[in-house]
Amino acid sequence: MSSTPQASAAAGSAGGEPAGIADRAWLDTVARARVDDTGDCGFDAADRAAMARALELAARGLFTATPNPRVGCVLVRDGEVVGEGFHARAGQPHAEVNALAAAGPRARGATAYVTLEPCNHFGRTPPCVDALLAAGVKRVVAALADPNPQAGGGLERLRAAGVEVALGLMREPALELNRGFVSRVTRGRPWVRLKVAASLDGRTALANRLSQWITGEMARADAHRWRAQSCAVLTGIGTVREDDPQLTVRALDTPRQPLPVVIDSGLELAPGMRLLAGGRALVFCARERAEARAALAARGAEVVVLPNAQGKVDLPAMLHELARREINEVLVETGARLNGSLLREGCVDEVIAYIAPSVIGERGIGMFDLPAIDALAARALLRFTEVAQIGDDVRLRAHVARVPGPFAPRTAGAGNHKEQG
Ligand SMILES: NC(=O)c1ccc[n+]([C@@H]2O[C@H](COP(=O)([O-])OP(=O)(O)OC[C@H]3O[C@@H](n4cnc5c(N)ncnc54)[C@H](OP(=O)(O)O)[C@@H]3O)[C@@H](O)[C@H]2O)c1
Repeated sequence: MSSTPQASAAAGSAGGEPAGIADRAWLDTVARARVDDTGDCGFDAADRAAMARALELAARGLFTATPNPRVGCVLVRDGEVVGEGFHARAGQPHAEVNALAAAGPRARGATAYVTLEPCNHFGRTPPCVDALLAAGVKRVVAALADPNPQAGGGLERLRAAGVEVALGLMREPALELNRGFVSRVTRGRPWVRLKVAASLDGRTALANRLSQWITGEMARADAHRWRAQSCAVLTGIGTVREDDPQLTVRALDTPRQPLPVVIDSGLELAPGMRLLAGGRALVFCARERAEARAALAARGAEVVVLPNAQGKVDLPAMLHELARREINEVLVETGARLNGSLLREGCVDEVIAYIAPSVIGERGIGMFDLPAIDALAARALLRFTEVAQIGDDVRLRAHVARVPGPFAPRTAGAGNHKEQG
C-alpha cells in the first residue's frame, strides 16, 4: 500500500492473493502477455528519468485524450532532451509525432521514450512507426505494450527495420494512466471505479436517507478530479430521487464533462432532474415506456432498454454497451442498493472510499446492500492500493480482487476493439 499512483499501480501486480482473482488475471494478460516485456530490468537512471518525464507528459491528456490512451514521448540524443510530446485529443497527432516535430532533424540517432508501444496502423492518423523510422530514431523504449490488436506490432516492425527496441520500463504507472483504455480494448468493458463517502463506521446515509454531506469540502473536490478523468458518471434512480445530483465537474476546470448515466428499471427519471441540464445523458431501463422515453429525449437523454431475468437492468450488458460507445472509465456515485448489485455482478474494478472521522451508528445505511452470507469464504475480497489524507478525511483505494458466488466478474474476451487514432 502506498500514497503514490506509481506505487499504487505497482501494488496492482503484486502477488499473494488467493486464486481466481479477476484483476490479477487481467493484469497478467495485459502487462505480461509479451515475451519481449522485460519489466523494469536492464534500464539505467537516464532511461528512468526520461520515461518518468514521458509519463508526466502523458498525464497532460488525462481529461482530453479519451477515447484514445494518454501517451507521452520524450526524445533524447547524447544525453540531451531534443523533443517532447503528448497526445491531447483523438484525431490530433500522437505523442511520438508531436515529439518528432519538436525535435526536427535532431531526432536522427535519438532514443524515443514512449509510454505506450508506437502504433503500427492507420487509424485517424498514420502509423507512428513510420514517422519514427522516417526520422531516423535509433532506439525506442516503450513502457506498455499496445493492447489494441489492430494497432500492435509496432516494436516488432521497428526491430525488423534495425531499430533497437525495449519494452516494460515503468509499465505499471503507464497502465495506471490507461486502465480504462486497456480495459475497453481487452475486455470490452470500461474500468469501473465506485466512489463512496462514508462515516468511520461505513455509513453512507442516515436512516432517513440524508447523506449531504458526510465528508468535507476537500474530499468532495478531490472526487471531482475523478469525475473529470472519467468518461461517464453512473448513478441509480434511488440517488437521483433523493439527492437530485448534477454529476458535473465543478471543483476544477475541465474541457469536457462526463456523460451522466442513470440505472432506472422502470424509466421513472423525471425530465426536470438536474443531471439532465447538460443536454445529454444515457438512461438504462428494463422496460419500454414510450411517453417517458419521448419526455427524456426532449431533454437530450437517450434511453436504452436492457432487462435482465429479474426485470432489472442487466448491469454487465450495460457495461459492454458503454464500451461500445467508447467509454473508457466510469465513476459510480450511487447508493447502497445499486452499489451492492454492481459489486455482486462483477461490475466494479476499483473502490474509492472517502472515510470521514465521524460515526453515524447502526441505523445508518451502509455501502453495499448485499445478501447475508454465512461463511467468511463468501465475502468479496479487495486489495488496498493507496491511502491518502484529504483534508479531515481519508481516501482509501482498493482493487476488487474476488467476488464469490454465481456472479463472478468477467475477465476477458468480449472483444470490442475500436481503433485509436
Ligand atoms: N454517501 C455516498 O457516497 C452516497 C452516494 C450516492 C447516494 N447516496 C445515498 O444513497 C441513497 C440512495 O440509495 P439507494 O440504494 O436508495 O438507491 P441507488 O442505489 O442510487 O439506486 C437503486 C435503484 O437502482 C435501480 N436498479 C436498476 N437496476 C438495478 C440492478 N440491476 N440492481 C440494483 N438496482 C437496480 C433500482 O430501482 P429500479 O428497480 O426502480 O430501477 C434501485 O432501487 C440516498 O440516501 C443517497 O443520498 C450516498
